[in-house]
Amino acid sequence: MNDYLYEVRGISKNYGSVVALEDVSLGVRAGEVLGLVGDNGAGKSTLVKVLSGAHQPDVGDILLDGVEHTWRTPHDALEAGIETLYQDSGLAPNLSVGANVFLGRELTMPGPLGRLGFLANRRMETVAHEELDRAGIGVASADRTVSELSGGQRQAVAIGRAVAWARKVIILDEPTNHLGARQANEVLDVIRAAKTKGLGVIFISHTLPHVLEVTDRIVVLRLGRVVKDAPTSAFDAQSLLGTITGLIGADAP
Ligand SMILES: Nc1ncnc2c1ncn2[C@@H]1O[C@H](COP(=O)(O)OP(=O)(O)O)[C@@H](O)[C@H]1O
Ligand SMILES: [Mg+2]
Repeated sequence: MNDYLYEVRGISKNYGSVVALEDVSLGVRAGEVLGLVGDNGAGKSTLVKVLSGAHQPDVGDILLDGVEHTWRTPHDALEAGIETLYQDSGLAPNLSVGANVFLGRELTMPGPLGRLGFLANRRMETVAHEELDRAGIGVASADRTVSELSGGQRQAVAIGRAVAWARKVIILDEPTNHLGARQANEVLDVIRAAKTKGLGVIFISHTLPHVLEVTDRIVVLRLGRVVKDAPTSAFDAQSLLGTITGLIGADAP
């Protein structure tokens, strides 16, 4: 037994003859930030796809709140409270911030026009603003279009949207890539806000200082296997890099 909110046990996944994941077990607790790191090809993206329901594992179990689940599609995982932000943020540049927060789950007005899908725009903008505020994001106005925002602000909206909707778990794949230092810090603040909200956060990044700064625990993948799972305080920049590259030996399985 353990106190994981979201967990995988014994996950393996092959693409033809390529072993992308082999016997991977890990979990995240509520209110915890788990860092997931590894070199290119280590299996991070494949694991994210399994966790988000985009891919099914060949073998292994997925447990949310200790209950086994099978995600047939990403929608199944979303409905269960698991939000995933992929490297490509998926924002619609021509829509407002508010509309983007509700993209794919638009509020519709009750009443005669409801069936026609008449969108409650003003209500969406208001709720969007509240949700972004709650997620710790200072986007000046929810009715500005995304194309007017800087790269960092866009990323903040994308993450804020995910944090606002997530009920259990949020998975962030390289959210600080291509951001300047100040913007990256804003993203790290949003991660802290998600943690405070009691979500389980899985943070994938190549930027090791960010991982060391914001995570509680780190799992290192190498060639599809977990080679280390330890509290962040057990690492420094050098030992983390060494564990990723294999210059520092893995824990014996
Ligand atoms: N769709 C795919 N088809 C074939 N091989 C894949 C596919 N996706 C990933 N792989 C392979 O699986 C391994 C793990 O890749 P990936 O999960 O993308 O690692 P990471 O995100 O850590 O760079 C790599 O060897 C990669 O080439
Ligand atoms: Mg990847």
